[in-house]
Amino acid sequence: MAGPGLRWGIVGHGGIAPTFLAAARHCRHEVVVVVGRDRGRAGAFAERHGVPVVAERPADLAGTVDAAYVATPHTAHHDATMVLLEAGVPVLCEKPLAVNRTQAVAMVDAAQRSGTFLMEAMWTRHLPVHQGVRRWIGEGRIGAPKLVEASFGFAAPHDPSGRLWSPDLAGGSLLDVGVYPLTLADLVYGTPPTEVHAVAERSPEGVDAHVALALRYTCGGLARLGSAINAPLGWTGHIVGEHGVIEVPEFWRAQAATLSARGEVEEMVHPHAVNGFEYQVADVERCLADSRIESDVVPHAWSVAMAELLDRIRADIGVTYPADRGV
Ligand SMILES: NC(=O)c1ccc[n+]([C@@H]2O[C@H](COP(=O)([O-])OP(=O)(O)OC[C@H]3O[C@@H](n4cnc5c(N)ncnc54)[C@H](OP(=O)(O)O)[C@@H]3O)[C@@H](O)[C@H]2O)c1
Repeated sequence: MAGPGLRWGIVGHGGIAPTFLAAARHCRHEVVVVVGRDRGRAGAFAERHGVPVVAERPADLAGTVDAAYVATPHTAHHDATMVLLEAGVPVLCEKPLAVNRTQAVAMVDAAQRSGTFLMEAMWTRHLPVHQGVRRWIGEGRIGAPKLVEASFGFAAPHDPSGRLWSPDLAGGSLLDVGVYPLTLADLVYGTPPTEVHAVAERSPEGVDAHVALALRYTCGGLARLGSAINAPLGWTGHIVGEHGVIEVPEFWRAQAATLSARGEVEEMVHPHAVNGFEYQVADVERCLADSRIESDVVPHAWSVAMAELLDRIRADIGVTYPADRGV
């Protein structure tokens, strides 16, 4: 490995790429190549953000970087990741790992077959606040968890060809932001749900503009979750136990949580050093230093189980994508 930290290539240079860049640089890593389908657009990004090299294909990263960050629309995660893994390039791939379980399994198989690191960039799981919340729950501070209540929704302008709305780009709220409340419930209960009930408001193009979920978990605990791209749903997560409540404002990028139980209130605060992505960047560095192909924080099996759950919910609400018809 050259330099003080990892040398990254990034595939895709849209809305989220600068967030990754800032976190990687904070960790003293370098972003040395940006890959984009259009050299002009990728070049403009490279110039604006001080990335020295522009490339057109993920395969161009082979032999030139220590790791790649895949930040294309969901529908392009699979193809880019497969090419990278088969070329032996470790991958941090944006959430959701894939459009469906079939793709996710193929990606995990490719990582295992090639012995190359792969992790879904579910950064929420790395946040110290959530480790602290899990500790509170494990210590019995709120008693047995009974309910997780969380939504993530925002009102995006209706743009039928844009990433959020187009079926061709696996649009809809569930895959884009519904994964966060599902992740919170998973952090609390630690298993996939045994029962799932979903209702949705679909856009004219047939993607889920708004989803409401009721779930039951193995331990008997329940969850009431929501996601939307057409309404600013509340952003605070509540974890309710027999004896108290944990409140987590902006739970997907949490920097604080409050425990109220048995007449006492306790605050926990962990401000991000940059933007919260720094924890997953540091985890990739640790995993690669240990020659690991998966992280304990977001293991392969977790991503496959999440993809399976998303498939199940989409089947309930009648949302299918062209990408479901073939990998
Ligand atoms: N972790 C988080 O907090 C977070 C936040 C936002 C988004 N995300 C995830 O990050 C991913 C990207 O989101 P974004 O908001 O950054 O998207 P975006 O702004 O639409 O940018 C997508 C990028 O991918 C490129 N691209 C578009 N279509 C492509 C294709 N078919 N093949 C290869 N590259 C393609 C685009 O450039 P060209 O068109 O020039 O190729 C663009 O650079 C999504 O999967 C999303 O779920 C994560």
